Amino acid sequence: DIDADKVLAAAQSFVDLGLKDVGYEYVNIDDCWLESARDPTTQRQVPNATTFPDGIKGVADQVHSLGLKLGIYSDAGSTTCAGFPGSLGFEDIDAAAWAEWGVDCDCLSICMTDNCAIPANWTDTATPQDDDWYNSNSAVRYRQMGAALANGPVPVQFELCIWGTAHVWEWGARVGHSWRMSGDASPDWNYLMSIMTVNSQHLDTVDFFAHNDMDMMEIGNGNLTLQEERTHFAVWAFMKSPILIGTDLSQLSKDEVAILTNKELLAFSQDTTVGTPATPFGSSITSPPQLYAGASVKGTHVFVVNTNDTKSTFTVEFSDVPGLGTGSFVVHDMWTGEDVGTFKESWSVTLDAHDTAAVLVIPS
Ligand SMILES: *[C@@H]1O[C@H](CO)[C@@H](O)[C@H](O)[C@H]1NC(C)=O
Ligand SMILES: *[C@@H]1O[C@H](CO)[C@@H](O)[C@H](O)[C@H]1NC(C)=O
Ligand SMILES: *[C@@H]1O[C@H](CO)[C@@H](O)[C@H](O)[C@H]1NC(C)=O
Ligand SMILES: *[C@@H]1O[C@H](CO)[C@@H](O)[C@H](O)[C@H]1NC(C)=O
Repeated sequence: DIDADKVLAAAQSFVDLGLKDVGYEYVNIDDCWLESARDPTTQRQVPNATTFPDGIKGVADQVHSLGLKLGIYSDAGSTTCAGFPGSLGFEDIDAAAWAEWGVDCDCLSICMTDNCAIPANWTDTATPQDDDWYNSNSAVRYRQMGAALANGPVPVQFELCIWGTAHVWEWGARVGHSWRMSGDASPDWNYLMSIMTVNSQHLDTVDFFAHNDMDMMEIGNGNLTLQEERTHFAVWAFMKSPILIGTDLSQLSKDEVAILTNKELLAFSQDTTVGTPATPFGSSITSPPQLYAGASVKGTHVFVVNTNDTKSTFTVEFSDVPGLGTGSFVVHDMWTGEDVGTFKESWSVTLDAHDTAAVLVIPS
């Protein structure tokens, strides 16, 4: 049910809600922007003439005039998931059209290049030669699009919506900038638990221009509690998943906007000095892990995720945290922007069910 007015309303909300001010940059169009057939002469994808009367270019021009960028969606198969013309075999034609229309980002969170309607001869039925999944049929489909985009006139943010298949984390960074780690997200705690479990096992592949994508955030959807929404945002930020909002912005509560615009968590996610994410630490790592630590330009950060269904108290021994050692430390709360106090040897925090603490720990 997408149309140009909804895209432009979302772009305006970026400005009005302060999302643009804290760094949100791309307004992405998902599936269903197309007519059901390609142009018979040019073979290009054709935007729906009713819902996009000025084409994608008309929308891109207006999004650009707000100081934002536009992203678009396609599929690395014969059709998109909703049955519109997909890009497999049309990579050069589609990449050229998008560039001409002023699309800056192939990265549709829900997949710039989705993974539906794969012809039988493009599937992977066996482990590829030498166990190198870069040579799998799945990888080749995305490599074809990556090559077409690389030949274009503008740099493109390329998101591989490959649903965590074909060992994508092993080769994704050679083809694009981010890659989905699972099927589509759902707005419930079970999804958060399962994606944390999967992604925490593959954090060694994350660095600058190389991001495991845990899918668009569900903050504002379903019946996540505020604590679960805080955990959702914090985990996406400290695991350095793309930060993409997947909800009707006009329906967000003040508390939800505050979560999505938290400057210290965004700064950790977008740090220009350290590309690596926070990773699990401690002597007994649970599934999913509850304690994570990572570095930013400001120092060492600790994240405590209460995956328990009850209010729980966690104790962080400073000597267990990589990079800290022993002694006294000032603990600074990234949610509130305020120092909690000075602690010797350890720090304890009591968290509501499914809530997350996010702190910077500085030698005192
Ligand atoms: C184009 O959009 C109109 C208005 O929403 C819709 O009725 C029509 O089915 C769409 N065309 C295609 C091919 O989906
Ligand atoms: C699948 O078949 C199409 C059409 O014949 C061909 O262009 C394509 O290269 C084939 N794909 C693979 C992986 O062999
Ligand atoms: C709301 O939460 C309950 C469990 O607390 C779950 O069973 C239900 O599916 C959720 N509804 C939605 C819309 O996510
Ligand atoms: C979380 O729950 C597990 C299992 O019930 C329990 O062993 C553990 O002590 C709890 N953690 C905290 C910090 O209360």
